[in-house]
Amino acid sequence: PEAITVGELAKRMGEKGADLVKELFNLDMMVTVNQTIDQDTAELLVEQFGHNITRVSEADVDIAVEEDVDPAETLKPRPPVVTIMGHVDHGKTSLLDALRGTKVTKGEAGGITQHIGSYQVKTKGGDTVTFLDTPGHAAFTEMRQRGANVTDIVVLVVAADDGIMPQTIEAINHTKAAGVPMIVAINKIDKPEANPDNVRNRLLEHEVIVEKMSGDVQDVEVSATEGTGLDELLEKIALQAELLELKARPDRDAEATVIEAQLDKGRGPVATVLVTRGTLKRGDTFVVGTESGRVRAVVNDAGKQIKEAGPSMPVEVLGLGGVPSAGDVLTVVENEARAREVAQYRQEKATEKRTALAPTSFDTMFNQAN
Ligand code: GTP
Ligand code: MG
Repeated sequence: PEAITVGELAKRMGEKGADLVKELFNLDMMVTVNQTIDQDTAELLVEQFGHNITRVSEADVDIAVEEDVDPAETLKPRPPVVTIMGHVDHGKTSLLDALRGTKVTKGEAGGITQHIGSYQVKTKGGDTVTFLDTPGHAAFTEMRQRGANVTDIVVLVVAADDGIMPQTIEAINHTKAAGVPMIVAINKIDKPEANPDNVRNRLLEHEVIVEKMSGDVQDVEVSATEGTGLDELLEKIALQAELLELKARPDRDAEATVIEAQLDKGRGPVATVLVTRGTLKRGDTFVVGTESGRVRAVVNDAGKQIKEAGPSMPVEVLGLGGVPSAGDVLTVVENEARAREVAQYRQEKATEKRTALAPTSFDTMFNQAN
């Protein structure tokens, strides 16, 4: 079978080579853009990115990748996706509660966020902002990393009394690695021991130079409990979003990224997804990771069933065949047969990969026995 370099495949798909390398890394394959991959892997990648595969002939299976880039004239402005990061207890959830006028923190076990909350907030100017609240616990670093993939802007929450802590630094590093712009929210300024200038100074050590220190990272002093600085924070987000000119095509079959998923006792497998383009509708058939399904219900951040969800909207999707993984891409396909075909193909690939890995563990067992 024919082999193709990652770089060439990326070009034909209209994707970034680095994105393919990242995806391959997720599939446990360490390759560079200049290395070749086999046809099967190439096909899998094409599917993962939601492109279509055309088999040219039975004998010679080739990939003719259809350009799946939405034409510029179909693109419409979409809300920014803002991920809140920061050290444990620095007030990420409280800040979101304050912005939304809710009390999510009150219902949390031990006051620690265990799952990613995703919400939309309407600003006074009438703009919509999508927020993702990431768990502050160290064990959730990986989820947070994945969160950065769908993120347009990071709001780094730093408690003014506590200052820069290990997870603050982690968050800075994730943000830099993702190449996402950051806004620093210096929280808890109502506290007598608050020292926001110390936060600004210490950020310099991590090459985060905020506006007040003549840098270009926006910073804002807030108090989640007193409600101070919230409008200013939203304004800064809106300003940053404007610079990014975020757009997506709404009138097409949806593509969405799984933020988190679990098996719900009453409702079955439930995935919280973020629509990246198109509009997800009740009744749509889809593939997500190695699962196929049909959208039984779309539930918004207020727990209400809605008919459809457009770009940047976080929603719960019901009607999955199984529980997908965070980071999986949900792709709407034309019919159930197609959905099953793609899902089965991906399952076979996953099984093949496990089988391919088996001899290694067998060898290890053998060596240990000797
Ligand atoms: P994790 O989800 O565990 O990472 O925490 P978090 O960053 O979401 O912090 P959370 O919002 O749960 O707040 C932690 C504690 O700080 C709570 O007791 C809040 O009431 C308190 N807190 C948050 N913001 C402020 C603030 O602006 N001022 C004061 N005084 N306390 C705050
Ligand atoms: Mg929290």
